[in-house]
Formats: sequence, structure tokens, C-alpha cells
Amino acid sequence: EVTRDFTHNLPKAELHVHIEGTLEPELKLKLAQKNNIDIGQKTIAEVEENLKYDDLASFLAVYYPAMEVLVHEEDFYELAMAYLKKAAKNNVRHAEIFFDPQAHTSRGVKFETVINGLYRATVDARALNIDARLIMCFLRDLSRESARKILLEALPYKDKFIGVGLDSDEHNNPPMKFFNQFCTAQEHGLHVTAHADVDQVNSLEHIRELLEVIGVERIDHGTNIVEDPDLVEFAAKQGVGFTSCPLSNDFIASDMKGKEVLELLAKGVKVSIHSDDPAYFGGYIGDNYYALAQKYDLTKEQIVALAKNSFAASWISEQQKAFYL
Ligand code: ADE
Ligand code: ZN
Repeated sequence: EVTRDFTHNLPKAELHVHIEGTLEPELKLKLAQKNNIDIGQKTIAEVEENLKYDDLASFLAVYYPAMEVLVHEEDFYELAMAYLKKAAKNNVRHAEIFFDPQAHTSRGVKFETVINGLYRATVDARALNIDARLIMCFLRDLSRESARKILLEALPYKDKFIGVGLDSDEHNNPPMKFFNQFCTAQEHGLHVTAHADVDQVNSLEHIRELLEVIGVERIDHGTNIVEDPDLVEFAAKQGVGFTSCPLSNDFIASDMKGKEVLELLAKGVKVSIHSDDPAYFGGYIGDNYYALAQKYDLTKEQIVALAKNSFAASWISEQQKAFYL
């Protein structure tokens, strides 16, 4: 029998968590007060009252305004440290954490403020037995010029993050819009991943661009690939990772997408389970494993296979991989 202890205590890698999506109501209120920002909410109940969404656009409309409370380097440090402590309790041994610099620089916060605060937390996470790394995401609903600008601003700090990703509103924002930026990132030795959110318009086309043209190492969500068996075979052969987030999927698509995850697992694709925006979708990574296990009656072997895939699809060294696999 699969218990909550089993899913939470299993050693795992977190490859799909947005640090801004770990901003819990309590910390949001605390930072709002500290930074003298009127967020229009004074109690945890009032913050929670505002958490209403049923698709990607309605989620993002709640998500971005909440970030206004993040202003100083210390705020980013505190946000990341709070997450890493929760991750440690979920027995996360390795974390590759997304951040959205444009969501902060567009409000006048300096890139260096964001990265220095987050990076310092990743260094301190070593004391929690977590190997934590950062992935800088481009906001795909902003222009390619804006992506270019943030990439050039970030490159002098490239020892502080290990890759680039692509997130935000996918509608009418195909991966190829950022082809040039992905190429530059790859030329600088950065890893590359990108979101292909569940059940989006042109989802399969976006997945095809990521796999066949850009050559990403992972796709975040991306489970719509099951609609094209040839593409699944290609992804399996290339060893591309797919980071699926059951509780997020349930909000965004009213479906945890467990059937798709199991199909990919059976076909030898490196699919794994993650948390996306845990403060918004009702649970951290252990809860995501547990919810999926309950709903789809997963065996311990299947759960272990998903956890092993999380290390296999991670960007740790081959030596570290051998330790976990
Ligand atoms: N930013 C934070 N969470 C996201 C998601 N699930 N999809 C796209 N952008 C995001
Ligand atoms: Zn995501």
C-alpha cells in the first residue's frame, strides 16, 4: 500500500517549481507589511479568497500581482529559503528552481537583486542536504526583445544559474518566437527547457518545435505529446525529460493527466512528478506524488520509477546520477 509517508520520504529531484509560486499567503502578508505595499488584503483568509482560477490565463492574472511584495534581496532570499525548508521535508535532494526575472525587473527591481537573493539561498541549502540550482525563465507573453535584454543582463551571472526556461501565457506564443535566445543560451553552455502547458492551443506543434528544432533537454508539462506516437518515440530515444505536475494540471485542465504520465512511463520516456506553483495549487512535491498515486492507484514500483526519472532528467553530473539511479 502506498502511504503518504512513502511518497514524501522517497528521495527525489524537484525539476519544476517556480520560486514565485512558492509564495505562501503568510509570507506575502509579512513582506507587504515590511515593504509598506498595499496589496488590498490584510488577512490570510483574504489572500486565500483571491486564489480563484481554472485555466492558465486566469491563474497568471492572480499570480503576477502577488509578486509585488518581493522587493529587496533579502525578500528573495527568504522566499527561497522557506521553499527549500519545505523541500527538505519532502526529501528533495536536488532542486532546479525556476525564476522569472522579467516579472521583477519590469517593476523596477534589479536583476542582481533577484539573483543574489535566490543564489544565496541555494548556497545555504547545502546545510539542508539539498543541491539547489536556478533556471532563469523568459516570459513568453513578452517580446523577444525583452527576452534578449534579460538574457544579456543575466549572462555576466551565468555561474549562478544553470539553464534557461520558457513560461507564462502560451497562447499565440510559440517556442520559435525565442529561437535566437535559446541558441545564444546554448552557445553559452546553459541547459535548455521550456513549458508546453497542458491542453494549450497548438500544444503538439509547440512540442514539435521544442524537440525537433530547438533541441530542448526537457519539456515542462508536455504530456500532450501522447497524441503523436512518433514524437513520443523520438522523445524516448533522445532521453528528453517531461516534468508533469498533477495538482497544477487539475487546476489548469481539470485533469491530473495521470493516464498520459503512465503511458509515457510505459513507453520509456523520462517523465517525472513535480509541483509547479505549490502555494497556489494545493501542495508541494510529496503531495503531488501522493495525489497521483491515490487517483490512479499507482504501485510502489511506478512511484519509484517516477522518482528515478526525476534524477535521470536532472542536470546533475553523471557521477551524482549513478548514486541515485
Ligand atoms: N508560471 C508559473 N507557473 C506556470 C505554468 N504552470 N505555466 C506557465 N507559466 C507559469
Ligand atoms: Zn510551470
